[in-house]
Amino acid sequence: MKRITVAELLSSQNFLQDVTVKGWVRTFRANRFIALNDGSTINNIQCVVDFENTDEALLKRVTTGAAIAIKGILIESQGKGQTVEIQVKSLEILGDSNPEEYPIQPKKHSLEFLRENAHLRIRTNTFSAVMRVRSTLSFAIHKYFIENGFYNFHAPIITGSDAEGAGEMFNVTTLNLTNIPKTEEGNVNYSKDFFGKITNLTVSGQLEAETYAMALGKVYTFGPTFRAENSNTTRHLAEFWMIEPEVAFNNLDDNMDLAEDFIKNVISYALQHCKDDLAYLNDRLLDEEKSKPVTERSEMNLLERLKFVIENNFKRVSYTEAIEILQNSTPNKKKKFQYLIKEWGADLQSEHERYLVEKHFKCPIILFDYPAKIKAFYMRLNEDGKTVRAMDVLFPGIGEIVGGSQREERLDVLKQKIKDLNIDEHELWWYLDTRKFGTAEHSGFGLGFERLVQFTTGMGNIRDVIPYPRTPQNAEF
Ligand code: 4AD
Ligand code: MG
Repeated sequence: MKRITVAELLSSQNFLQDVTVKGWVRTFRANRFIALNDGSTINNIQCVVDFENTDEALLKRVTTGAAIAIKGILIESQGKGQTVEIQVKSLEILGDSNPEEYPIQPKKHSLEFLRENAHLRIRTNTFSAVMRVRSTLSFAIHKYFIENGFYNFHAPIITGSDAEGAGEMFNVTTLNLTNIPKTEEGNVNYSKDFFGKITNLTVSGQLEAETYAMALGKVYTFGPTFRAENSNTTRHLAEFWMIEPEVAFNNLDDNMDLAEDFIKNVISYALQHCKDDLAYLNDRLLDEEKSKPVTERSEMNLLERLKFVIENNFKRVSYTEAIEILQNSTPNKKKKFQYLIKEWGADLQSEHERYLVEKHFKCPIILFDYPAKIKAFYMRLNEDGKTVRAMDVLFPGIGEIVGGSQREERLDVLKQKIKDLNIDEHELWWYLDTRKFGTAEHSGFGLGFERLVQFTTGMGNIRDVIPYPRTPQNAEF
């Protein structure tokens, strides 16, 4: 008989039918009730064993984590807490799980402990819920763009360019590191390397996406990106996934409209399609908050926060306005910020972003028109000559979730910028070609996928929303 998933069984009204179900034991109570989970849903199906007529040795092997197959009859549940259950006719152990050794016992484990067991943590309610939400969000993102006339574009992962100009890149090389070929001047001779030049893992697919937008009109990338920033925070990974739409003929206002509509759309899709998982995560967070002092608890629960984001406009605020607010803010005056805001031009730290979002505006905001000095070379210079058409979307609890801009489409202005920043113009010849041949206004942004998953699931640490996190000193699994 074909196996039926737990999700299908739990929504079935087809009582008294014979069914086969396979999964992993979550708990086994009173030698009678097996809670079985197969990953199709956060919910378990209860399987009731007739223990008097079942081999005792077999029942001993029904331990947490064991894989089993059950044949039985689907009936309306007699007990509380579930609508259907299975009356077990036969039970087969597919794979034992020694309870002395299996780390994931039916009790509360710390997130730190589970991180060390990332290959097994997916068998817990929390992680299976997070990863189902992650999968749903990923689908929603592709769906949103495809339905809105975008083409999916696969940016190269190995590249010679540093899109963000931040220099935080992982080199890609096949050179023998114990015997590095040198040039006459004593530098590394990359002409002997695999690609004949210095290459790295991409920090962003944007520059390549721009070339495609200038032909296909609307494109988006959704791929892994790599940053060798040595930041051990709850919001940074060395390997993360980024979604980067790029649209020809869009200006910054269009770009902000797109970012806002897109984020609202995918969160709303998750709310509709991950009801059970989000309800579980909502309760998990409420439980976690109980251990915090009352003043530090959030005003809204997870589900309320998600609805709030969907139903309210993101407030659009210029950088200049934000600096004024920050300068006059209590934590700045009382020197509570780690980095005090002294003057226009200061780079915003996450403490400032979170003050603006969580304390001042109390809603998601889009900051725009940042000083040119603190932003990347490709952003369009404003008439004032000192600000650029940049935008960052800031979210409560997360800080920056999106970074984007209108791009500098004027060849002469772009070249001057490249020169001022000492970037090698020859490396960017192909990028500059887009400004030589049929240049036009265009804009795009990058959404950090894990930060979106963090916001949607309420997980506090970014390492808990990606299957196998890569962070400084950590590449296990
Ligand atoms: O602001 P960023 O650096 O922007 C870019 O890379 C642009 N090229 C995007 C574009 O215009 N096409 O990064 C975009 C987003 C950030 O807002 C953040 O959400 C996420 O990527 N991000 C990270 N997420 C996890 N770990 C890191 N180390 C991240 N660095 C950036
Ligand atoms: Mg940024």
